[in-house]
Amino acid sequence: MPVAIITGASEGLGEALAHGLALRGWDLVIDARDAVPLAETAGLVSSHGTRVTALPGDVTDAAHRAELVAAARRLGGVDLLVHNADALDAEPLARLEELPLEGLRRALEVNVVAALGLVQEALPLLRTAAAGAVLVVGVDAAVAAGPRWGGYGASKAALDQLAAVLAVEEPGLRVWAVDPGDLPTDLYAAAVPDGDGPRPAPAGVVPAFLRLLDERPASGRYGAPALLEERR
Ligand SMILES: NC(=O)c1ccc[n+]([C@@H]2O[C@H](COP(=O)([O-])OP(=O)(O)OC[C@H]3O[C@@H](n4cnc5c(N)ncnc54)[C@H](OP(=O)(O)O)[C@@H]3O)[C@@H](O)[C@H]2O)c1
Repeated sequence: MPVAIITGASEGLGEALAHGLALRGWDLVIDARDAVPLAETAGLVSSHGTRVTALPGDVTDAAHRAELVAAARRLGGVDLLVHNADALDAEPLARLEELPLEGLRRALEVNVVAALGLVQEALPLLRTAAAGAVLVVGVDAAVAAGPRWGGYGASKAALDQLAAVLAVEEPGLRVWAVDPGDLPTDLYAAAVPDGDGPRPAPAGVVPAFLRLLDERPASGRYGAPALLEERR
């Protein structure tokens, strides 16, 4: 069975991806900082019949990242690494003139530095996988300039660029940066407490991610809405 590591999988998009992959037969290593919801999610996901290793921890902790990869090695390797966990720079989001620099540092640490750390840890196993792939979860604020999305968007732009360079340096892998579109999760509520408008549940965008795995298009930046639209 293929093995995936998914960070930030106790709720939201990460949890939905875990269900989607487990239903396809993937064995999983998942994490989140809070052990209780993570264990609950692992119990639900493992009901699909595949092996699920849940390791509570913070992706900014190098020892935790090493544990994630070691757990995947025990399951057979790493076929897919999903860097989904992330941090906002401020809650709610703030204009650049008042953005706390500590918040920006935290966003860069979680969204960029930890992502690279995990990639570095997993690369030896990814390179030996039959169809190794890295998937980083992006956001439209990485490419569109909207008020209050400056710090967070900058961190995600850095993540996108990291993925783009990784794709060049590791041509044997697929490296996708995927923007899922707005989703009604805790993250979005913390970012934009007065945000409104209809948004699909995270499970609704999972088919876009599965399509990438099925079709293995070229490495690059993809948007879930377009992937879903083209499939109809
Ligand atoms: N929601 C949207 O509208 C939207 C739009 C575009 C892109 N995205 C992207 O989608 C991804 C998932 O977002 P979401 O909306 O699903 O968020 P969410 O519902 O708030 O879930 C975030 C998950 O990440 C975990 N997490 C957070 N910080 C972590 C850390 N330092 N180490 C390990 N786990 C951590 C959380 O658990 P703990 O708190 O217990 O750690 C939780 O499991 C993010 O990369 C985000 O940029 C979301």
